[in-house]
Amino acid sequence: MKKREKREPKKNPGGQPKKAWAGRFRQETAPEVERFTESISFDQRLYRQDILGSIAHARMLAHQGILPAGDAKRIEKGLREIAGEIQAGRFRFSSQLEDIHMNIEARLIEKIGDVGGKLHTARSRNDQVALDMRLYLREVIDEIRGQILRLHEVILDRAEETMEVLLPGYTHLQKAQPVRLAHHLMAYYQMFSRDGERLSQLRDRVDVMPLGAGAIAGSGYPVDPSFVAELLGFSRTAPNSMDAVSDRDFAIEFCFAASVILLHLSRWSEELILWSSEAFGFVELADAYCTGSSMMPQKKNPDVLELIRGKTGSVYGDLQALLVLMKGLPLTYQRDMQEDKVPLFHAVDTVSACLSVFCVLLESVHFQADRMRREVEQGFLNATDLADHLVRQGMPFRKAHAVAGRAVRYCLDQGKKLEDLTRPEWKALAPEVGPDVKKILGIEQVVEARDIPGGTARRQVRKQLRQARGEVEKRRSRLVKDQMKPAQLSL
Ligand code: ARG
Repeated sequence: MKKREKREPKKNPGGQPKKAWAGRFRQETAPEVERFTESISFDQRLYRQDILGSIAHARMLAHQGILPAGDAKRIEKGLREIAGEIQAGRFRFSSQLEDIHMNIEARLIEKIGDVGGKLHTARSRNDQVALDMRLYLREVIDEIRGQILRLHEVILDRAEETMEVLLPGYTHLQKAQPVRLAHHLMAYYQMFSRDGERLSQLRDRVDVMPLGAGAIAGSGYPVDPSFVAELLGFSRTAPNSMDAVSDRDFAIEFCFAASVILLHLSRWSEELILWSSEAFGFVELADAYCTGSSMMPQKKNPDVLELIRGKTGSVYGDLQALLVLMKGLPLTYQRDMQEDKVPLFHAVDTVSACLSVFCVLLESVHFQADRMRREVEQGFLNATDLADHLVRQGMPFRKAHAVAGRAVRYCLDQGKKLEDLTRPEWKALAPEVGPDVKKILGIEQVVEARDIPGGTARRQVRKQLRQARGEVEKRRSRLVKDQMKPAQLSL
């Protein structure tokens, strides 16, 4: 017989087995199995949610007459003390107790004795962990919504201040048409606006209280899930116990939402990296948000932006990890699902850190308006307007396009700009060109000509900005309302 097989399960001083589930076991868990199966090293992050959920559960048990009111009070008091111990760094997490749920429960029993053992009545760790995750994510989503609102405000301020700055807009990374810098910045506002919306919608799907599902089939006690939901500020309860314990869609959706936020941050970072290069020279990044080279003394590098771009990939990895984690799992809870927390927490931390550093960086970026102006006046960014002018003179667009192209070719050969061509030159190139052509080809005029909804003319960009201010205000009050709701029960 191997030595290990002789080991008896460890007992608490009261004679109970140390592990909550040790009853049916003859052997003690192998230490390597304890190390392998533990999640306390990462799920201790959920301690607040776990304790809040347990307090709500205990109050519900008392309210339903499943537990004497005095017991529930002692349990709540003990749990609140444990929260204090954890917050003060005085709690000793043990990997022998596997996870946050059993660490807290064991400490509760240690503190208040047998009564503590009543807390888990009508509950399983399967519905408990689902509740913890939903409580956690609901809070996190609101924090990130707040960060996005902050970013909105920075973008809107910067757009307001750069309304008169013109720069070349690019397609294929080739100069295309002149745009207002404010219009360019507002394009990012629109992206992050959708990101904020996505998170609000996700919040609604997270806002479901799963307790009462038990391990899989629901509880045999007369529990009242809506009582718990009310205490914890959930707007509804899970309609199916099997789905309640095995659904992780919400974590996957969060990683997707985080991926798209980072996609937007990464594109913008990439653009600012280009813009801060000597070749573009469109922005000067503040020294405080750059780093230097250990060898080349002259260097000032946009590392913060590069790291945002780099970290984005790792969050796509989190999304992929969760999708693959779940794809082969039959109903209902499988231990695989414990692994959901590592990618989820990583995605949360990364998206939050990137948003916060990007926001302050954007506040401090210096836009080089003169350089942008110089670049917008070179490169025939008004060639489309020449074609449009010919169309207005009655020429079919295809022909006008060819004529304008020939005029550009001529200018390239002569080292001239379209707006500088003389009457005799126009006569030779395109006699249809009218006397007002010079005015039409002016860059300000080209920008102002785009005066349709969504266009880059001043009036339209102002309208966009005004609308955005209204949206931000509405979103802010909705966020405040959402954050007020769970306040019924707090630690
Ligand atoms: N630590 C586990 C997790 O995060 C809690 C649920 C465990 N349930 C179980 N039956 N082993 O998923």
